[in-house]
Amino acid sequence: MQNYPGLLDEAKEILQRNTVTVTVGGKSYERIVPSKDYYVHQWLWDSAGIAMGQVHVNEEDAFNELVSLVAGQWSNGLIPHIIYNPNETRYYPPADQWQTTRFTKNGIKTSGITDPPLLAIAAEYLCANASDEQKKRDFINIVLPSLMAYHDYLKRYRDPEDCGLLTIVHPWESGTDNSPRWDSILKRIDLNMIPTSIKANVDMNRKDIRYQDSQERPTEEDYYRYIYLIELFKDLSWDYTRIVQETPFAVKDIFFNSIWERANEALAALLHQYGDQEEANKYQRWAEETRRALTNTWSEANRQYCDIDVTQGNQQVIVVPTNALFMPLYAGAVTDQQLDSLLHRLSQTDEFSTEYPVPSTAINSQYFDKECYWRGPTWPIANYFIIEGLKKYKAKHKNVDQLANFLTSRTIQMIRFNGFWEYFDPIDDGASGETKGRGFNSFSWTAAILIQLLYAEK
Ligand code: DGY
Repeated sequence: MQNYPGLLDEAKEILQRNTVTVTVGGKSYERIVPSKDYYVHQWLWDSAGIAMGQVHVNEEDAFNELVSLVAGQWSNGLIPHIIYNPNETRYYPPADQWQTTRFTKNGIKTSGITDPPLLAIAAEYLCANASDEQKKRDFINIVLPSLMAYHDYLKRYRDPEDCGLLTIVHPWESGTDNSPRWDSILKRIDLNMIPTSIKANVDMNRKDIRYQDSQERPTEEDYYRYIYLIELFKDLSWDYTRIVQETPFAVKDIFFNSIWERANEALAALLHQYGDQEEANKYQRWAEETRRALTNTWSEANRQYCDIDVTQGNQQVIVVPTNALFMPLYAGAVTDQQLDSLLHRLSQTDEFSTEYPVPSTAINSQYFDKECYWRGPTWPIANYFIIEGLKKYKAKHKNVDQLANFLTSRTIQMIRFNGFWEYFDPIDDGASGETKGRGFNSFSWTAAILIQLLYAEK
């Protein structure tokens, strides 16, 4: 870490600059927004990742970040993927599009879907890395009941089959919005049956492409479908028993579920330390079930774990080579034989071993697009999960440690040479002086991951 003091200062400064105070229902909340240029609200998994970096800088701010997030929890336990700042208008869709305020406290406005459930992992990380015992206790008293209610909600509504894998109902819930993993399902939503009022709403109000190159963002057709799903869920009165059955997009996502596995382990660990042992055992059991189920999604023929399209009774595996296939490492779900295959693929220069690894889609895939969001660019957060996952297998294979160190140093260099971008072009084509950064700059999450990586190196 001593080698990069300037870089660390820059990361801290970004988190400081992106901090806002939001007052809702007479209460004030501190938040670090993902980007002041566009992502001006609070996102569940960004916020969790940001808090994990911030705890190394300012413990109180890190705790506040998560306390502010759980304030948006619904009475049924759902923690929505966006907690809106009522004073901001830069983002689309706006808060009022969701019509969900009746589910929250104090008039807090939120979306109606969730994000990869990184929250318990962040809460555990904060408790492990903060030093002030009293602040930890205060934090735990607020957050632990929310975490349990959130996990219970996910298990109850998103795993009605009790198979160990949760169902996501919207591409935004995956966090990897326009991943080619979702193409075949989304194509089934016929654009002709999407009402023209929805298309007009998107055409008139979509904002991301006003601030940024549209080549780097999801397409117009993607957005028609994203908003169509929201309108559908609204028509179903946000009744998740029906949404899960009726949505035209229902997937057992291996990326989301790998985080779910780890989140249950984290929640069990927090309960062992601060709460009820029986409850701890319950979440530990859920983690084990998910781990087994993830292992079983492996396709030997394709040498990868596969998402399962479960839309309206389907049981169709999805085989697309993306960075999601490394996520079961993070969940500890990988057998020895699977590990050999994963390490091989991670080291192949025509697949995932690029100048700035790990690309979100393998570069030899027909779907690879080096500029476009989750269809090719490298994301620091995904690298973080893969690095943490690899570390779990240190003792299993002589190359693992080396690979984890290599990925760590390439991720740090990627940010050091290009800046704190949202995502990065994974290929260096020799164009000198040109940044490989894509998406929005001064991105909080990238700053937070860098801080974590530097501290982990220390
Ligand atoms: C976006 O707007 O890009 C988000 O990923 C949706 O939450």
